[in-house]
Amino acid sequence: MRTVQGAALGGFGALVRGLVGTRPRPADAVTASAEALHSLRARHGCAPRLLRTRSGKTVLVLLDPRDLRRFYAEPPTVLVADPPRKCRAPDPGEPLGTGPAYGGPRPERRRVDTEALTPGLPVHPSYPRFRAVLAEEARHLTAAGTLELGRVRRAVDRAARRIVLGDAAADDEQLTGWLRHLRADADDARVPQPPPNGPPSPTRTAARSPHGKADARIRAYAARAGRDTLVGRAAPHGDALGRVHPWLSALDTIPGTLLRTLLLLGAHPCELRRAATEAAGDPGPGELPRLRACVREALRLYPAVPELVRVARTETRWQGVSHPAGTTVLLPAGFHQRDPEQVPAAHAFVPDRWKGPGADRDVRMAPFGHGAGRCPGDQLGLLLTAALCAEVLRGHRIEAVRPALDPVEPLPALLDPRAIRLSLTRR
Ligand code: HEM
Repeated sequence: MRTVQGAALGGFGALVRGLVGTRPRPADAVTASAEALHSLRARHGCAPRLLRTRSGKTVLVLLDPRDLRRFYAEPPTVLVADPPRKCRAPDPGEPLGTGPAYGGPRPERRRVDTEALTPGLPVHPSYPRFRAVLAEEARHLTAAGTLELGRVRRAVDRAARRIVLGDAAADDEQLTGWLRHLRADADDARVPQPPPNGPPSPTRTAARSPHGKADARIRAYAARAGRDTLVGRAAPHGDALGRVHPWLSALDTIPGTLLRTLLLLGAHPCELRRAATEAAGDPGPGELPRLRACVREALRLYPAVPELVRVARTETRWQGVSHPAGTTVLLPAGFHQRDPEQVPAAHAFVPDRWKGPGADRDVRMAPFGHGAGRCPGDQLGLLLTAALCAEVLRGHRIEAVRPALDPVEPLPALLDPRAIRLSLTRR
């Protein structure tokens, strides 16, 4: 078995940084990841490779495009989804916690997600209100004439709290801070901590902990939330409170995706003109198909979730080799959807590739995954991001962008949203 040095599961860049045995800067790490996997495939063929991380975790990495379909198609009784960190709450033991929703032991969570997020419906039933919220928050977004991550995050955080919990939560930055803190803590929890001094009182600790405080705050907002909020839609169908944190966490992917989409548009004037024309027009029931294609394409190039993970519940055979139950199977979706051997113009921004009706089901490209584990918020996430792009483009031109992108050259492997600056001028 190949040992992956210095790698921690949960970051594809990190995984393959281990493979190449160096400590490159993030952009190099992603390029190295792709190069390392291509060279692994060239040297050893397409068969899945068992790699061991430094923490001792073994993962089966799928390199063969022919294995993709099966990864997505296996029922949860065979491969159970391990939801991405961005779309789950940190600790299953805590009051607001959540484990795998789909195929895991708690299918009622799927029911709650389905009622709230309406996967499969391109336009969410609460969209008239969501659209009004986005229009209001976009005013803060564009007021300064420049767009950068801090500003975009503040606007999206406000919109997300209003969409999930209602207008009463609009200003509650503290709640967002607690939830981010909990996610960061959950990541740190992988590292063993020294024992505390003396036994804590469980009740008092729970009440004072960020989790306890966030829990109480969420309960209070949910009690007043309207039926057109996510928590209000979900409430009659099960434990809506338990889904608030994963939903807010998932909406956190929007700022980076919004900035990357606008940056790519700024570097592709023809695409920008078409997107701006759509934004200026009267959006119909299909709501912003061109802008949605641009968002999908930005996510193909720069996925919010670059690796998908399943855990085998039974023994499975991959290309003739058996692997025991409990094997972690990793699909490096970011690698496959930019694989020039499989995807035409893999490193170029081509929103039109998403035009055909089959594109959304093409397993080579998976910004939201496919099959039973597919993101239940895919349509909502696309719609909200496209609508925010439209709010920006409706009143403004994108004049200058940083970093500069050359539309003729292959696009860079990584676009750090913290480094993106867009200058806007009024139309
Ligand atoms: C545009 C932004 C988004 C992207 C790129 C995205 C992507 C993904 C991906 C790739 C997965 C895992 C699929 C798999 O394992 O095969 C996932 C899962 C999930 N997403 Fe999203 N998502 C987005 C927006 C949202 C939104 C807006 C929500 C809800 C408000 C949401 C809720 C979830 C949930 C709850 C899961 C995990 C389901 C489970 O527990 O198994 N996502 N998402």
